[in-house]
Amino acid sequence: MADQKRTMERLVIFGATGDLAARMLLPSLYFLDADGLLPPTMKVVGSARSNLDRETFVEHVHAVLKARSEGLDEAVWKRFRERLDYCPADVTTGAGLKGLAEHLGGASTIFFLALSPSLYGAVCKALDEAGLACGDCRIVLEKPIGHDLASSRAINAEVGAVFEEKRVFRIDHYLGKETVQNLLALRFANTLFEPLWNNLAIDHVQITVAETEGVGDRWPYYDEYGALRDMVQNHMLQLLCLVAMEPPPDAGADSVRDEKVKVLKSLKPFSRTTAHQLGVRGQYRAGVVEGKQVPSYAEERGGETGTETFVALRADIENWRWAGVPFFLRTGKRLPERRTQIVIQFKALPHLIFGERAEEDVTANRLVIDLQPDEDISLLLMNRRPGLAGNRLQALPLSLSLNDGGRRRIAYERLLLDVIADNPALFVRRDEVELAWAWIDGISDTWSDLSIAPKPYAAGSWGPAGAFALLERSGRAWLDE
Ligand code: BG6
Repeated sequence: MADQKRTMERLVIFGATGDLAARMLLPSLYFLDADGLLPPTMKVVGSARSNLDRETFVEHVHAVLKARSEGLDEAVWKRFRERLDYCPADVTTGAGLKGLAEHLGGASTIFFLALSPSLYGAVCKALDEAGLACGDCRIVLEKPIGHDLASSRAINAEVGAVFEEKRVFRIDHYLGKETVQNLLALRFANTLFEPLWNNLAIDHVQITVAETEGVGDRWPYYDEYGALRDMVQNHMLQLLCLVAMEPPPDAGADSVRDEKVKVLKSLKPFSRTTAHQLGVRGQYRAGVVEGKQVPSYAEERGGETGTETFVALRADIENWRWAGVPFFLRTGKRLPERRTQIVIQFKALPHLIFGERAEEDVTANRLVIDLQPDEDISLLLMNRRPGLAGNRLQALPLSLSLNDGGRRRIAYERLLLDVIADNPALFVRRDEVELAWAWIDGISDTWSDLSIAPKPYAAGSWGPAGAFALLERSGRAWLDE
């Protein structure tokens, strides 16, 4: 039977009074409504344990939206508030969801689980028991799916026992970022780059996700995960996959995801003999970030811990395209600036014809893809300095700017729209999540086998010295300018 796409009539947010809903989900839905992109009759039903009435929830949403810098458009708010509804529930038991089931009255529903991943299995079971896991209902899961391969498999199996894979939308919000999608356009809508996109022309790749924020109040979650599991397992490996994957036959969800899976399968595992050379863990001490004195991670959480807040890794992709091209990944909290960036560093010139003085001017070509704080793509090209001062060269960044002057969308806007439209292309498939965990487990297991503890770094610095040595060992350096 053909798979009928029914209009979704309800979007239920479990955890509707929590942080993710306030920062991302409710504002995204409001902005989609402002642009006329939500199905006209779709209701947004908040659900949480608290026994609120609808009016109190509406007031909460109003306060959340009002507090944002964009300001609230009264006409849009009037429309949006009509969509809002609230129904308390205990999501962990079928009985606890009975009230919600009656409230929804059999409508096609998207369930967004803005909850701890440890509850995903129980919630799916409870939805099933309450008769809410109907044929075309969809479920949206936030990262992290598990803590390692075994726990992720267990969660995926529990979810899969109730919802078939095509109804499961695993969010990695990096995939909703405009520049990340543009990376695919850049690679596969231009003839220029693809012939050079390999180990013949590319020297190495750097992926940096630097944050100035500390862990702060999130430490009870973060302490269990650390930077490796919180950022590398998902966001950074997704970026690596999109840079490294082969051209898919089309942009369809499974075509792209099949190619990402091949990259994950080609990642060289860490071993006891390589762990020290290929990875660096760090943890911030007190320091100064953006001119402000900030405490150490240990002070924030009230005691010493072995969790890393910084990680730098060298990843090698063992296939024909990338053999010999290291991918350097680095992420951390309390770094000097907020920056999410991918740098594709091309190889040096094979021979310079412009004489000795020009030698010091030459920089190898570089494609810089900025995701944050600004979205931009620029290509560093060499150029001749104008004038009569002989053959002197200069490096000029050619901006392929993405800024169309419009409002910068929240990544969740794209993703929520895609769940509503039943388009899973920007969501992570089960095999991707599990392969990513398998590689990450290889790293964390060697770290614990070899008792590799995080090295201290001052807040406001670019991490421990080992992060620099990681590149220096092969004669390279982080591009921090
Ligand atoms: C989340 C992590 O997934 O991504 C956070 O749990 C991190 O620790 C955040 O701060 C970064 O997202 P963005 O979009 O601000 O780069």
